[in-house]
Amino acid sequence: MATFGSSTQEIPQAGEVPRHVAIIMDGNGRWARKRFLPRVAGHKRGVDVLRRVVQACVERRIEYLTVFAFSSENWRRPPDEVSFLMNLFMSALGEEVARLHENGISLRVVGDLSRFEPRLRELIEAGERKTAGNKRLTLTVAANYGGRWDILQACNQLARIRPERLGQWEEADLAPYLATAHLPEPDLFIRTGGEQRISNFMIWQLAYSELYFTDRLWPDFDARALDAAIASYRRRERRFGRTSEQLQASADWTAETQASDA
Ligand code: IPE
Ligand code: IPE
Ligand code: MG
Repeated sequence: MATFGSSTQEIPQAGEVPRHVAIIMDGNGRWARKRFLPRVAGHKRGVDVLRRVVQACVERRIEYLTVFAFSSENWRRPPDEVSFLMNLFMSALGEEVARLHENGISLRVVGDLSRFEPRLRELIEAGERKTAGNKRLTLTVAANYGGRWDILQACNQLARIRPERLGQWEEADLAPYLATAHLPEPDLFIRTGGEQRISNFMIWQLAYSELYFTDRLWPDFDARALDAAIASYRRRERRFGRTSEQLQASADWTAETQASDA
C-alpha cells in the first residue's frame, strides 16, 4: 500500500473496542477543593480510581492503557504538592505491583526518569522487571513525560545511532526511539476534568487518535464513564485521510473475502 509519507497507516476498523486507550487523568485538585479538602486528597483518590479503571480495561479486553501521571511541566507546582505526588507514586508502586502481576498486567513507566530520586527509579525498574512477561494488559504510566521531550530525545538517539542518514530520516525511523515504542498509536484519547487540550501529552502519537473530553473530574471517573467514552469512539468513522466511500468499499471487500474464505 502507498504510504504517502505518513507513518499512520492502519486501515480503520469500525465498531471495535479500542486497542489502546490513553488518558489524561485531570481534575484531582478541583475534586478535592469542592469538598474543602487539600488538593492532595484528590490525588490520593485518583490512585484508587486508576486501579478500578485498569480492572475495567482488562474486563473489556483493551490491550494497552497509557495514563498521564505527571508532566514535565508539573514541577512548576508548589514543592509540597510535588513531593506528595512523588511519595504517592512510590507507595502506589510498592502496593500495586504485586496486584498488577497477579492480574497478568505488565507495567511500563515512560518519561525522563533521571530527575526522580534513586529509590523511586529502583521501584520503577523492579516493577517493570517483575511484570515484563505479562500479556493481558500493558499499563504505561507517563511520569515526568512531555511530548516535546519525547520527540527530541528520539531525534537525539537517531542522531547518535544513525548519523549517516542525517537529513534523510523518515517518520518511521523515529518511531522505534520514542518512549512509547512498545505501544501502537492510541486509538482513543480521554481527558477528564473539562479542559480541552493535550497539555504536551503524546503529541506525536496522538496524530490520528479519536479525542474524547469529559467534564467529569478524574476522582469521579469509573467503568461506566469509560464505557461512555468507548461508545463515543464506536460511533466515530476513522478515515485516516481517506473518504467515507473508500472506507465503505474496503469494508465490503473485507466482508466478501471473509465470506468466500468461510
Ligand atoms: C491531575 O489533576 C493530576 C496531576 C496533574 C498530577 P490536577 O492536580 O491537575 O487537578 P486540577 O486540574 O487542578 O483540578
Ligand atoms: C496534565 O494536567 C498532566 C497530568 C494530568 C499529569 P495539568 O493539570 O498539569 O494540565 P494543564 O496545566 O491544565 O494544562
Ligand atoms: Mg489539572
